[in-house]
Amino acid sequence: MAQARDRDSFESRSARRSKQWPSIAILVVAVVGAGLIACDSTSKDGDSRIEVAAETAEVSTTEASSMETPATEAAAAIASLRKGLGGALRNGLAKGPVEAISACRLDAPRITGEIGEGRMMTVGRTSHRLRNPDNAPEDWMRPLLDEYRHVEPSPGSSRTVDLGDRGMGYVEPIYLKPLCATCHGENVDPKLLASIREQYPDDEAVGFRVGEFRGLFWAVTKESPVH
Ligand code: HEC
Repeated sequence: MAQARDRDSFESRSARRSKQWPSIAILVVAVVGAGLIACDSTSKDGDSRIEVAAETAEVSTTEASSMETPATEAAAAIASLRKGLGGALRNGLAKGPVEAISACRLDAPRITGEIGEGRMMTVGRTSHRLRNPDNAPEDWMRPLLDEYRHVEPSPGSSRTVDLGDRGMGYVEPIYLKPLCATCHGENVDPKLLASIREQYPDDEAVGFRVGEFRGLFWAVTKESPVH
């Protein structure tokens, strides 16, 4: 019985192994093909096997690049930024809202910078009513801020803008959630408000209602929007 089981498992192991071979072979061929495309040199006309491989590699490259458009890259960068800032905010709030202000002040610019650098693009947040003057909108963002302010809230409705030689601008709207009202809402605790005013003397970012348009996440990628 035990022996039979052993044989079974041996057989299924070797079956698995032989099943793996085709995929390994495809991988090797694809790598060879990719190498040929990259070096653009040693392709021999007579060798049809390599030509097929080169075609396969080319198809997969095309698929990859059509999935990774500048807009999807920008959206992915903003998703990481949203996640990073959300985590920092939760950590800060665990210590108390006044402490969280300092955490936001120090962490938000650092996280924003790191995400942009890692992805070779610039990302950030901006608003029509700023807390931090460093987040002031660039010219191309102003009409978009105006537009989103005057339409019904539409979470996730992104927009792209052709910035010519600079590449592509991408924005996503930010709406106020109940959690955000602690520091941006209509009834901010007086002690907290005093701390905000101390660190941001020109703050205009209180008095928002939950659900109201608060500003934009933005990204500038190096590629233009149309390909
Ligand atoms: C603990 C207080 C606190 C909470 C809670 C908080 N923020 Fe902020 N917010 C800040 C501070 C401080 C800044 C300035 C930091 C920076 O970006 O340099 C800021 C900046 C911003 C900015 C950048 C534009 C500007 O005015 O400088 C946006 C947009 C923003 N917050 C939206 C939100 C949203 C949306 C939430 C809820 C998910 C939220 N905030 C929760 C304190 C807070």
